[in-house]
Amino acid sequence: MSTSLPHLLSLRDLPAATWRALVESAERLAGPAGRAPLLAGHRFGMVFFNASLRTRTAFEVAAFDLGAHAVNLQVGGGLWSLEHRDGVRMDGPHAEHVKEGFGVLARMVDAIGLRAFAGLVDAAADAADPILHAAARASTVPILNLESALDHPHQGLADALTVRRKIGERAKVVLTWAPHIKPLPLAVPHAALLAFAHEGHDVVVAHPEGFDLNAGILADATRLAAAAGGSVQVTNDRSAALAGARVVYAKSWGSPARYGRDDAAEAVQAHPDWIVDGAAMARTDGAVFMHCLPVRRGVVVADEVLDSAASVVLDQGAARLDVQKATLCRALGVQA
Ligand code: CP
Repeated sequence: MSTSLPHLLSLRDLPAATWRALVESAERLAGPAGRAPLLAGHRFGMVFFNASLRTRTAFEVAAFDLGAHAVNLQVGGGLWSLEHRDGVRMDGPHAEHVKEGFGVLARMVDAIGLRAFAGLVDAAADAADPILHAAARASTVPILNLESALDHPHQGLADALTVRRKIGERAKVVLTWAPHIKPLPLAVPHAALLAFAHEGHDVVVAHPEGFDLNAGILADATRLAAAAGGSVQVTNDRSAALAGARVVYAKSWGSPARYGRDDAAEAVQAHPDWIVDGAAMARTDGAVFMHCLPVRRGVVVADEVLDSAASVVLDQGAARLDVQKATLCRALGVQA
């Protein structure tokens, strides 16, 4: 992998100066500068192994607004099924290897975005983010992570931007696990944690026992938060955590300890009282409610919260456009 390329693979190793530059660039691009042909003549490719509404639309619109062309490829929807492992005999379902697929794509476009969710079968494999890193090794142009097994940098950037806009100062942020009907990947809670750590907030991660985040991400977030003047704590007592919170960020994720197990879904469903409802929000210091979307109403969050003035999820989703303009400009070497 060429480390000299301005990839955006994870927030965990992003230098503080790059973090600040991206957030500030996103704010500038939210204004008239975001409709100028800064990227005229540039081409951006996207490869999605999984579905998307916000990420894909924001990049297509960002490219349009800035004068670039975006190509969107969906695995299973007209794109060859891709193998990413080295040294395997390709006699299974995959018709093309990432080495050739991304190798050719990189000769046709100037940067490539990749979405490849966690498999949720092998925790060690997911922790290595194998598809993302295989693509980065194969590509001669910058790779942007559009949500991988471990991280979702664009979501984290938009989350940080939203808190800047809604709160505007160091704040207590509760990142709370929420129930779901099935186990979900951990990329979003990792990204939100890392983003709020970069911003120097006081982050409390609340989850039931057995739903620990990746230990390496937690350590990196703790280091980043300390460097930025903030803090990271973890608790199983959400009720206590909510006291004094200015931000409640809900997300469901599967238990890494139950990866691939038959009872993984039941474990996620076993904590319905972790829904974010009006009673939970009443414990906070007038907190705003955040979620990356899509969200299941009545499972993750009650309508009374999602439909209330405290909910900022639409502005949070819309912020994706501003940050993705900024990361696109950075990847293509354009000052913005
Ligand atoms: N939050 C997010 O990434 O949305 P999409 O999955 O719709 O892109």
